[in-house]
Amino acid sequence: MIKAFVVGHPIAHSRSPMIHGHWLATLGLDGSYQRIDVAPEDFATFLRGLKADGFAGGNVTLPHKEAAFAGAEVLTEAARRIGAVNTLSFDGQGRLMGDNTDAVGFTAHLDETLGRDWLGTDTGDVVILGAGGAARAVVAGLLERPATRILVANRTRSRAQAIAGLDPSRVEAIDWDGLDAAVRGARLLVNTTSLGMTGKPQLDIALDHVPVECAVADIVYSPLETPLLAAAAARGHRVVDGLGMLLHQAVPGFERWFGTRPVVTPELRALIVADLVTKR
Ligand code: ATR
Repeated sequence: MIKAFVVGHPIAHSRSPMIHGHWLATLGLDGSYQRIDVAPEDFATFLRGLKADGFAGGNVTLPHKEAAFAGAEVLTEAARRIGAVNTLSFDGQGRLMGDNTDAVGFTAHLDETLGRDWLGTDTGDVVILGAGGAARAVVAGLLERPATRILVANRTRSRAQAIAGLDPSRVEAIDWDGLDAAVRGARLLVNTTSLGMTGKPQLDIALDHVPVECAVADIVYSPLETPLLAAAAARGHRVVDGLGMLLHQAVPGFERWFGTRPVVTPELRALIVADLVTKR
């Protein structure tokens, strides 16, 4: 039986076992996917023991993504760019390989919701709110797309400048106070901050200057319809929720460990939505 895991601290809230468990069951594969809680001080030992414990690989979530980046023996281009690892597996030579699938998770869901060619060239800017790890992954994903300009606004400007370093010819840090002006030419607005999440303060931005053709995305998925998405939908914007990124980032890992590429279906989505509603 092939074994995989998700490791984090805490880990009880993770929906990944439900996602991978659904794919294992519907594809009829002989595999397991378990939650593992590992404290930061034990993480390096955990990584070293993976092969002996018989794991094919697994997912890494907070707070271990940077430690997994440091501990992997080989890194994919995406992981190097983002500076964090969310997916571990062993390569052909048995080396521990770190990948980051958050970027493709975001763009795959964007494609699914808005259409693959939606982010064309010369169609306007992408405005990103926030400059943490999630923003880095979203920007890395968008940089794989046609040459749209990406503007990053963050409370702490220096972190936005660090993200602009991913590709200074296309990514620019802007002041949080300059948002009203920046969104006037936006094609896509993405919230990557934790604001709007259940238990956190709301994201306090006015959508008055956002053109109606601009789509609005949120990476927060609890609640599924964040106050930002609700306000955007009420104004007639197309909206992209945060759950799709979670579902799509799981695809490459599953394929690597279990040998079959799974599909994000409406049935899987409904399963997770039902769980989000009952257990916040
Ligand atoms: P992650 O790695 O999951 O993205 P993070 O690194 O803690 O998490 O980043 C959270 C993001 O939300 C940051 O952009 C943070 O802004 P700062 O860099 O200035 O801290 C943003 N954020 C969190 N709380 C905020 C608040 N009350 N107002 C504005 N931005 C906030």
